[in-house]
Amino acid sequence: MLVRTKPRWWIAESAATPESVFLDRRRIVQAFGLGLAGMGIGGDAAAAEGVARNAAYTLGDRALTDERYASSYNNFYEFSTSKTVTPMSDALKPRPWRIRIDGLVEKPFEIDIDDLIAKMALEERLYRFRCVEAWAMAVPWTGFPLRRLVDFAKPAAGAKYVVMRTFLDKSVAPGQKQFWYPWPYTEGVTLEEARNDLAFMVTGIYGKTLPNQHGAPLRLALPWKYGFKSVKSINRITFSAERPRTFWEALQDSEYGFWANVNPKVPHPRWSQAEERVLGTGDRVPTLLFNGYAPEVADLYKDLQKERLWA
Ligand code: MTE
Repeated sequence: MLVRTKPRWWIAESAATPESVFLDRRRIVQAFGLGLAGMGIGGDAAAAEGVARNAAYTLGDRALTDERYASSYNNFYEFSTSKTVTPMSDALKPRPWRIRIDGLVEKPFEIDIDDLIAKMALEERLYRFRCVEAWAMAVPWTGFPLRRLVDFAKPAAGAKYVVMRTFLDKSVAPGQKQFWYPWPYTEGVTLEEARNDLAFMVTGIYGKTLPNQHGAPLRLALPWKYGFKSVKSINRITFSAERPRTFWEALQDSEYGFWANVNPKVPHPRWSQAEERVLGTGDRVPTLLFNGYAPEVADLYKDLQKERLWA
């Protein structure tokens, strides 16, 4: 992300293990609900506990990241530019929380997070996650498909993009006093991307309500894109005819684009994307095209070859 010196997480480009070794993914099971319950340790029942795992989403070669690592190595610039976001993020009050849905929809409205959750059937999915900084994890997210929220919002004709924004409150998030960042954090996807099976709205992780540092109470997960697309603590969702100018694009568009699909062959201007460091393991493994989700998403981009599809 934006740094002035060589970042701590910089890695050298080095020989990669053949991709085929890692391509043996078994996400072909389409039947939903093997019946494995979420772990249900603590947390708010409405947001994560006891939720069934959707067996269609498995991790291939990757093991689940230990919760200790995923929950203590975060990017949440509203609270800190370091990876240690807690306890600063404790200042966020994720309930009560209202989400505004507006723009090109049949009728704009606001909804409370728990009312929204009550309308969406929750499921657990195991997803890989690849940050543009070349670290990666694999986590059990609880949530619901973004497509269901899109249908609920009833987009009007002419809507082409779904734009999502994080809350804006300097008294809670000291990072938002840093005026050179284009707050509020804004991200967006095309309506077609939003309707892809993989696009997921997250309300929990590891069988618990989403903790603040992961973007409580509602964040996005787009596993085929670099992690910065997965906007946290969303309180506004706008349907638009225009492509939004996103947070990182507005800050540094020579380095971060709108599409930001994972591609090991397209280096970031300041580092290679060929490999990734797996949180909590010390392993470096080859990065896969679309983070290993090419079968599910490559078609979305077949007519967009003139676009800068990779971050
Ligand atoms: N959303 C907001 N609002 N603010 C942020 O700083 N960082 C992004 C993304 N969403 C960010 C955000 C980046 S760069 C990454 S890699 C992921 O959140 C990190 O998610 P995690 O901390 O849950 O692993």
